[in-house]
Amino acid sequence: MKGTKTLTIIKPGAIKKEYTGPILEKINTEGFHISAMRLVQLTRTQAENFYAVHRGRPYYEGLIKFMTSGPVVVAILEKENAVDDYRKLIGSTDPAQAEEGTIRKLYADSAQSNAVHGSDNDENASMECNFFFSTCERFSNFE
Ligand code: TYD
Ligand code: MG
Repeated sequence: MKGTKTLTIIKPGAIKKEYTGPILEKINTEGFHISAMRLVQLTRTQAENFYAVHRGRPYYEGLIKFMTSGPVVVAILEKENAVDDYRKLIGSTDPAQAEEGTIRKLYADSAQSNAVHGSDNDENASMECNFFFSTCERFSNFE
């Protein structure tokens, strides 16, 4: 069975443009329950650990600089089939390729400043949720 949680990050570019409210509204409208959430400014070490698998890629240094350039919203989203449904809702990594109506089409500036993160599979979703939230910070509808 597919998992019921995914981790999202509303990235610095979208926070600076005051898209936090519109993005959260879309998340709720599409049937996701927000079971944990906070604003945080990532340290370089935290960003490097979160994006460890991307180390060495040409965009890596820019990604780390961007992700530490201001506060982000981190949140756990819950729903049946959460990972795949949220990936569908956010759209392609590059907003130029994203489908109409997706969060990245609506609110992203570029492949780097692409508004939101979404976990890419259930195992990573669990790791990413644990990276940011302890059990007493979670208010699950499923567990
Ligand atoms: P990736 O996991 O491939 O994309 P997604 O966020 O859709 O899962 O890449 C992680 C982040 O790295 C991506 O959100 C933004 C940054 N990135 C770039 O800046 N340029 C790129 O060409 C790619 C592939 C990623
Ligand atoms: Mg990814």
